[in-house]
Amino acid sequence: MSVPKNETIVAIDGPSGAGKGTVARALARELGYRHVDTGAMYRAVAWQATYNGVDLADESAVETVAGSIALSLDGDRIVVNGYDVTEAIRTPETDVAAALVARIAAVRQVLVGRQRAIGEAGRLVMEGRDIGTVVFPAAAVKIYLDATPAERARRRAADRAHTSSLSADLVGVASALEARDASDRTREVSPLKLASDAELIDTTGMPIDDVVKRVLSLVRSKLDDSASKAEG
Ligand code: DC
Repeated sequence: MSVPKNETIVAIDGPSGAGKGTVARALARELGYRHVDTGAMYRAVAWQATYNGVDLADESAVETVAGSIALSLDGDRIVVNGYDVTEAIRTPETDVAAALVARIAAVRQVLVGRQRAIGEAGRLVMEGRDIGTVVFPAAAVKIYLDATPAERARRRAADRAHTSSLSADLVGVASALEARDASDRTREVSPLKLASDAELIDTTGMPIDDVVKRVLSLVRSKLDDSASKAEG
């Protein structure tokens, strides 16, 4: 797989509940870039595999699903094989299934290929866990958002897209989040980790608008830098 170098790619990584989605969306809007949520891709594969009755332990069957689904990520709606699954992929069940699917090397290879193909056009803010480390190691800007586990659980519990009767209580959300984080950080392939050249921002206690402002000014200065280097 060739690794594209791109002066207009912003990579945003970090654990669940660190504010990636809100920040990435706001950044994309401000910059006039496309926003791509790669977590939704893992979720879509998990949803389709489950829908097809595929055993998630059957890695090659899940890989086939990843390679064959028609996935549309335009705007904020996620459409899989013609079905709008935007809400369906945010259930606690899909949280668990997506974390399992994300551990499968062959699935990651397929989705990383799709992500790089989307990135060919540049002008994009891509969020996930391995964007700055694996998908676009030459991205112009890499941001790693973090927050304490308690704060991330609080935000997740308050996020209506993720709240259901199963996940509304804070203790339940916190322990589910912790289990998925542990899975994301310890898996063999592309574990969640801080890229050596990423800017780490701890968003604990920061209002989300302040996070957006801070990231935006950082990104603008880095993009200017990388554009002038590309010209020079
Ligand atoms: O960001 P999210 O919670 O929607 O992601 C769903 C799952 O996919 C989660 O377990 C992390 C995983 N993921 C990943 O491994 N790599 C990515 N680039 C994005 C998400």
